[in-house]
Amino acid sequence: MEQELFDVLSELEMRAETERLRNVPEHLRSNILDPDAAKFVSMLAVSQKAKSIVEVGSGAGYSTLWLAYAASITGGKVVSCEIDPAKAAEAQANVEKAGLADYVEFLSGDARETLRHRDEPVDFLFIDADFGQYETYFDVVYKRMSVGSTIIADDVVASENELADYTTYVQNHPSLESVTLPLSQGLEFTVRTAD
Ligand SMILES: C[S@@+](CC[C@H](N)C(=O)[O-])C[C@H]1O[C@@H](n2cnc3c(N)ncnc32)[C@H](O)[C@@H]1O
Repeated sequence: MEQELFDVLSELEMRAETERLRNVPEHLRSNILDPDAAKFVSMLAVSQKAKSIVEVGSGAGYSTLWLAYAASITGGKVVSCEIDPAKAAEAQANVEKAGLADYVEFLSGDARETLRHRDEPVDFLFIDADFGQYETYFDVVYKRMSVGSTIIADDVVASENELADYTTYVQNHPSLESVTLPLSQGLEFTVRTAD
């Protein structure tokens, strides 16, 4: 990993820790993905040689940086969606600072809309956004995914009740296999297994 990327990741991790220690209210925190989960998602994308990665919920860009790192290894690209323009700008600045801008395209706006207008194939989808909409984010991208494609959704253990509809949906879908990984806040790991 290049020093620039390491430095930006460390900066975001330290900010998140300071917010936690100071009891900054949840809605004002940067809410980055847990570092272990982020590393796992990134390495999974590398191991799957993912070329076309979609992220819903860039936030300050922490998970985006990890996905961009994966894309820099696989020769792929990340399309990252963020509804809050200030956060989208911050994520973009962080990706530029880390020297990974060539690997990320930002879509500013509601992912349910911005992703609807795309048609390129997707082999890796990462969801970390508003809980009530996980199935919709999934549905918008699913039609562009082929057998072997992967979907990872964050928070499924820590917010088990809020995300129960999503986990029930993917675990009972006839063209998917899905398992809950108890890593960090809980990751739902789903693979498309049939057309
Ligand atoms: C938990 S934060 C993402 C953190 C980020 N993955 C990281 O590791 O830094 C969730 C983000 O999803 C964004 N979001 C919520 N609803 C969205 C939507 N419909 N489309 C795009 N982004 C959305 C929020 O603005 C927020 O920045």
